[in-house]
Amino acid sequence: MTPRYAVFGQPIAHSQSPRIHSAFGTQLGIAVDYRAIEAGRDDFPPALDAFARAGGRGANVTLPLKEEAFALCTSLGERARRCGSVNTLIRDGDGWRGDSTDGVGLLRDLQDRHGIDPHGRRVLLLGAGGAARAAAFALADAGVIRLVIANRTVERAEALADALGPRAHACTPGDLDATDRFDLIVNATAAGHTGAAFTLPGVRVSPATACYDLSYGKAAQPFLDWSHDAGAGTAVDGLGMLVEQAAESFALWHGVRPDTNPVYAMLRT
Ligand code: ATR
Repeated sequence: MTPRYAVFGQPIAHSQSPRIHSAFGTQLGIAVDYRAIEAGRDDFPPALDAFARAGGRGANVTLPLKEEAFALCTSLGERARRCGSVNTLIRDGDGWRGDSTDGVGLLRDLQDRHGIDPHGRRVLLLGAGGAARAAAFALADAGVIRLVIANRTVERAEALADALGPRAHACTPGDLDATDRFDLIVNATAAGHTGAAFTLPGVRVSPATACYDLSYGKAAQPFLDWSHDAGAGTAVDGLGMLVEQAAESFALWHGVRPDTNPVYAMLRT
């Protein structure tokens, strides 16, 4: 059976992951069968079982399934265990091994591509779902001095802040206070998928502020528009993070790491 790979999520029609993995395969001379499969929280486990029966050897998992994927893994890599979130599944006997490549993907894009170093910075993280959890641990590892996690459901933000330790603080977006200055604002919510305008009263932005959305394409636009209007010096989407996390997943499945720069350049044009 031809090994198959896929990305699961909802919505998924917009996903660039099949294009990225196909480009990696072409670059390295590896035939890659990688598709996008629409699945919400309830239909994800049966869809993943059917995928395995059809030759599925590896999968990526995106919104809103990263914590669900974590729960159904039969074994976990260290990165996934720490952050409680899985974006990469590797077939392992009759089960799945889970890993999280989002954190390393975020840092590679932030630091290496955009020159934004979180070390010593005060960071506001919006969201507390699976993607936010991976981002939060990566930012903590990169040496942020203060991490405020603002989430609509404050209990999720509190659980994440507790796991991170004293540098992290939880609140709702409405609790944010203009006296708190942030060097970096990272949007890890799914709010952009609604298409509604992004607002964040109570947050002061200056030309020294960098804004980063983990989403890309239309989903990132409301946050990027707000960032520009608010006067942020830098505002970038997560297309580069997508390519970097994909390269890490590719290496886990195929044992070789692709060059991400030509693929990122192709997607930007
Ligand atoms: P993922 O695992 O991919 O991060 P998720 O677990 O569904 O997906 O998390 C989505 C995040 O976006 C959560 O922080 C969610 O807030 P809640 O925890 O309160 O649900 C946030 N989110 C989704 N839609 C939102 C919206 N319209 N406004 C603000 N936050 C939103």
